Amino acid sequence: MMLTPEQTAAYAEDGFLVLPNLVTPAEVAILRCEVTRLIPIDAPGTVREGSAGMPKSMFRMHASDGATASGPFQALSRTPRILATAMQCLGDRELYIHHTKVNVKAAIEGSVWPWHQDYGSWKLDGIQQPDMTTVMVMLDDASELNGCLYMLPGSHNWGRVEAVFDSSTAYRLWALPPEEMRRRMRQSPAPVAVLGRAGTAVIFHCNTMHASSHNLSPEDRWQAYFCYNTCVNRPVDVENPRPDYVRSRNWAPMTLVADDAVLQAGETLRPAAE
Ligand code: SIN
Ligand code: MN
Repeated sequence: MMLTPEQTAAYAEDGFLVLPNLVTPAEVAILRCEVTRLIPIDAPGTVREGSAGMPKSMFRMHASDGATASGPFQALSRTPRILATAMQCLGDRELYIHHTKVNVKAAIEGSVWPWHQDYGSWKLDGIQQPDMTTVMVMLDDASELNGCLYMLPGSHNWGRVEAVFDSSTAYRLWALPPEEMRRRMRQSPAPVAVLGRAGTAVIFHCNTMHASSHNLSPEDRWQAYFCYNTCVNRPVDVENPRPDYVRSRNWAPMTLVADDAVLQAGETLRPAAE
């Protein structure tokens, strides 16, 4: 898949681009089976919340090893639809994954993600340039009630804004200071709710300001995130680097796979016919 000139212009201008139906219902079904399999696993990086102890985030689905490795997620991270789109947005064919995660945002109890820029944390990982992009894939329909993402259009053009460490939820992150957000949002176009059916994706720049609300609905809101960096921009050494699940050390350039690779990976997971 290639983005049209209008789509690349929209990504450059807004800092994000919604891609409806990027992933098919059959692929979503396979990925959802994988999430169901992974939820009970306590792997490095998994953080849980709420009375049912559902993961707020779990990591490293794309990897070939480790407790949360998943063939279908690895395949999806390398399909032309996603990897070639990230290559096009970053203007580079040599990319690797900084991390992947699934945010479950459990029914009723799944909590807020405060306004932040992903590069707020990733610069502290030692990544020198904001040449990174994330593809989020909805594994449920996303609505305002169930805590969809919101993007602040054009906010990537402001560059990285100094962040503060927010430990108000189970997933502690570098968030934007409230006073700074009040000031910036008064000067900005209104935030855009990223809504859609399961299988819809959004690709967004690492400096785009984004957030999401609590899930007030009776159903979980599952979303998968694939965060790409250019190989030349791999992190420099930092003191006390974050663990591999969130700051990958696998900096080899990724290779594209066939576009039906998720379906193929799903086939191999099926129990053999009697
Ligand atoms: C994120 O920004 O990293 C996650 C937001 C969400 O899942 O709502
Ligand atoms: Mn984020």
